[in-house]
Amino acid sequence: MEDRDPAGFLQYLECTACGARFSPRELHTVCTRCGKVLYPRYDLERARAAVDLADLARRPPTMWRYRELLPVQDPENIVTLGEGMTPLLPLPGIGRSLGLRHVFVKEEGLNPTGSFKARGLSAAVSKARELGVRAAAMPSAGNAASAAAAYCARAGMELYLVMPADAPHTNKAECAVYGAHTYLIRGLITDAARAIREGGEGKGWFDMSTLREPYRVEGKKTLGYELAEQFGWSLPDVIIYPTGGGTGIVGMWKAFEEMEQLGWIGAHRPRMVIVQAAGCAPMVRAYREGRETAEPWRDAQTIAAGLRVPAAIGDYLILRAVRDSGGAAYAVSDDEIRAGMQELARRDGLFACPEGAATYAALQAMVRDGQIGPDERVVLFNTGAGLKYVDLLQPDLPVFEPGHPPADLGPRP
Ligand SMILES: Cc1ncc(COP(=O)(O)O)c(C=O)c1O
Ligand SMILES: [Zn+2]
Repeated sequence: MEDRDPAGFLQYLECTACGARFSPRELHTVCTRCGKVLYPRYDLERARAAVDLADLARRPPTMWRYRELLPVQDPENIVTLGEGMTPLLPLPGIGRSLGLRHVFVKEEGLNPTGSFKARGLSAAVSKARELGVRAAAMPSAGNAASAAAAYCARAGMELYLVMPADAPHTNKAECAVYGAHTYLIRGLITDAARAIREGGEGKGWFDMSTLREPYRVEGKKTLGYELAEQFGWSLPDVIIYPTGGGTGIVGMWKAFEEMEQLGWIGAHRPRMVIVQAAGCAPMVRAYREGRETAEPWRDAQTIAAGLRVPAAIGDYLILRAVRDSGGAAYAVSDDEIRAGMQELARRDGLFACPEGAATYAALQAMVRDGQIGPDERVVLFNTGAGLKYVDLLQPDLPVFEPGHPPADLGPRP
């Protein structure tokens, strides 16, 4: 069904598997015919005529600068904390150490709530408000819960969260301070998701699980719009992305297609490289085995909480983006992740989250494998602030009494 709203550019929701169409004026989750992921589709011809790139450059530095390509019809409904337009920083120290001239990081730790999850939740909570949602529910590995809690608080929307009992402490504290109804489950995000689905019958809340809810991906896709804008309307050669549910990677892939249709970029696409933790790598395994979907991973374990995602509803979309782009898939160990956090911090002053450090570990592996040329432009994604993970670090620092400094600090003999 096509139910076009003349006030906005959003036209309909389209099933990514069977092509069925649904009205964007009603609440939807997945395709009611086949259970797969729905994507919002826009009138890109009209958007193309409406947006001038020189004007765009003067808009405020948040992801809502791309509002014609975002799903909210009435700007009054936008729930924003200033998310997006994060820095694209060169990593000269890392680049020198690997013999690469153009390594960058998209520093998503500077978003509200300290992670890239702010983008998806700003879009989803805004659209939910527009469609009259009063209460939402969500499973999360941690950072999505924090972001949902902040945006729902701002929107005056009630929120029920379920996350693993061993989710990062910071995430739990954030959810509590924002006043979300927060529950901990002795299990993984997939168990949390089941609890929400089973508990939701008759509760009247809206399930905001990623890619079950059609608009979080729209917030995430702004990562792709920003990269293009920050590279002067061109795209890098390689993108290395820490993949859990994979919303960021499929969102960027969607953004590239939209931007080409808008005439903002050409046909060149980056090689999309996914990184997972060796202790939970369902997508990497499926990619290597040549499969189109991924089997759930058993006994998922890793210090990178955001990568502890044993199954993803968007598995076929992730694998398609990697293959269509000529990309690759890497699994990295927790030791490599810890070492990566130190190296990023020491060489380039970047305190990355474990998931961000995983992209650096994958870059090292790609260089070892001869997969990257010295002049190629590579972008790592630091999806969250390292400051959220201080409980992973046990600094062993010398302590001394006043008047008794250690030799390094004391007066010369
Ligand atoms: C810091 C961080 N990085 C990466 C991910 C994985 O993101 P995605 O679900 O988009 O693959 C998460 C998910 O929780 C996360 O918190
Ligand atoms: Zn379908």
